Amino acid sequence: MKKILVIHGPNLDLLGKREPGIYGKTTLPEINSRLKKLAAKRKVSLAITQSNHEGKIVDLIGKSGEKYAGILINPAAYTHTSVAIRDAIAGCGTPTVEVHLSNIHSREEFRHKSLISPVVKGTILGFGPNSYALGLEALLDLINTP
Ligand code: DQA
Repeated sequence: MKKILVIHGPNLDLLGKREPGIYGKTTLPEINSRLKKLAAKRKVSLAITQSNHEGKIVDLIGKSGEKYAGILINPAAYTHTSVAIRDAIAGCGTPTVEVHLSNIHSREEFRHKSLISPVVKGTILGFGPNSYALGLEALLDLINTP
C-alpha cells in the first residue's frame, strides 16, 4: 500500500479557534479524519504531522523519498518565507501538492508570493478544508493510484 506524507505547518493546530472568519471553524482533527476516510477509499495510507518548526518540516521532506509516494503540504506562514522548505521539496524528488485553506492572493500583499508553488506539482487554495481533500485527490491521481 502506498503511503502519503501530510504536513501541516505552523499554527494550523489552532484551526477552529484561529481567525475563524478567515479559516473557518473546522478543526485540524476534523480535517485529518476526512483525509483518512478519503485515503481508505483510495487504498493508500497517510502519515500526518503538524509542526511549528521549520527544521522539523525540512527533515521530514528530506527523508520522504525512502518511505512516501507523495507529499500533501500546507506550509502555512512558511509558504511566504522558507527557502529551506522550498529547497527540500525541490531536492527530495517526491511529488508534492501544496494546499491552502484561504485564497492567499486575495489577502495581504505579503501572502501573495509563495516560495513553494514553483517547486510543487500543483497548488489548490481558497476552498477551506475542501482544499485538502481536493489536494489529496489530485496527488493520488498524479501518482497513478487507482
Ligand atoms: C494558510 C495561508 C498562510 O498565509 C497563513 O500564514 C496560514 C494558513 C492557509 O491555509 O490559508 O497559516 O497557509
